[in-house]
Amino acid sequence: MRRVVCRELGPPDNLELEEVERLEPGPGQVVVDVRAAGVNFADALIVTGGYQMKPPLPFVPGSEVAGVVQGVGDGVEGWAAGDRVLGMTGLGSFAEQVLVDPSILLHLPEAMSFGQAAGFIQSYATMFFSLTRRTTVSPGETVLVLGAGGGIGLAAIDVARALGLRAIAAASSKEKLAAAEAMGADASIAYEDEDLKTRARELSGGGVDLVVDAVGGRHAEPALRALRFQGRYIVLGFASGTIPSLPLNHVLLNNRTVVGVDWGSWAFQHPEENRQLVGEALDLVAAGRLHPAEPGTYPLAEAGRALTDLLERRITGKVVLVP
Ligand SMILES: NC(=O)c1ccc[n+]([C@@H]2O[C@H](COP(=O)([O-])OP(=O)(O)OC[C@H]3O[C@@H](n4cnc5c(N)ncnc54)[C@H](OP(=O)(O)O)[C@@H]3O)[C@@H](O)[C@H]2O)c1
Repeated sequence: MRRVVCRELGPPDNLELEEVERLEPGPGQVVVDVRAAGVNFADALIVTGGYQMKPPLPFVPGSEVAGVVQGVGDGVEGWAAGDRVLGMTGLGSFAEQVLVDPSILLHLPEAMSFGQAAGFIQSYATMFFSLTRRTTVSPGETVLVLGAGGGIGLAAIDVARALGLRAIAAASSKEKLAAAEAMGADASIAYEDEDLKTRARELSGGGVDLVVDAVGGRHAEPALRALRFQGRYIVLGFASGTIPSLPLNHVLLNNRTVVGVDWGSWAFQHPEENRQLVGEALDLVAAGRLHPAEPGTYPLAEAGRALTDLLERRITGKVVLVP
């Protein structure tokens, strides 16, 4: 079987494709035939060495997978060859097959394609965790989503709309704003051209209740200033490469709250609660209340190009690798 291998940290173009023996499950293990592997910003950071977690070299990147169970090892209960599954692998899913602990697997609902599923958990679980566990939201509130055409951004809009919120999308291009509107955003701001704070206040009738920020950089402060009384600023990441400093006087004013979200470490420390959270999100997909977009696809051999396109801001929505 073929897999992508990272032999040294650096530009994603350095990734190599190698052919190895097909995998056999050991006791307590499951082999999944990969149908689609999610391409996430964190995968790119792991390959370039910019992530907090630095795996020993060489390693196979790829943190998220959807596929079909190929074989189960001795002692595995509840899973059988042919089951459609999705799961967070951490590493290893940029391959034709991946060996996993069955505790990471979830059943893939009929309503979801492999592509939708492979890009689902990281973005949707993060946003579902943010808006239902890290803060409380009320129907009718307005959320401003920065980087709204990205993976986290589109999931934020979808989850927000499912919870009865109004969503304002902010992004850099017409294409990304169109994707956000197709996902259900009620209004759009082209934040490279328009004044973010002024437009967000105008579009929300005085100020937004929540900001979802996975971008950081120069848009953070105007977004904070666009929050109304008791607004919440949700910090998710810094895709722009710049960690902003927020002026605390503008947190104090209007009784605002800054909420940090680190879904990955919470999921690691609370695996059962995370299973329940992802299960709730999957139920909303099955019920037609969440609508993960069908992703763009790259062949497995072009993993490096996919990660580079993500890092260079060229991708709208999610993309997956298809072996
Ligand atoms: N805290 C958590 O639990 C958690 C969980 C998952 C992901 N994350 C983090 O959230 C961030 C976004 O992840 P994602 O999967 O949504 O990524 P993504 O799909 O690439 O979206 C990121 C967006 O950031 C914007 N951006 C602005 N400047 C950029 C730059 N210089 N390079 C790249 N993008 C830039 C882009 O939108 P515009 O072009 O419209 O500006 C892009 O669409 C990452 O830092 C990731 O690690 C955090």
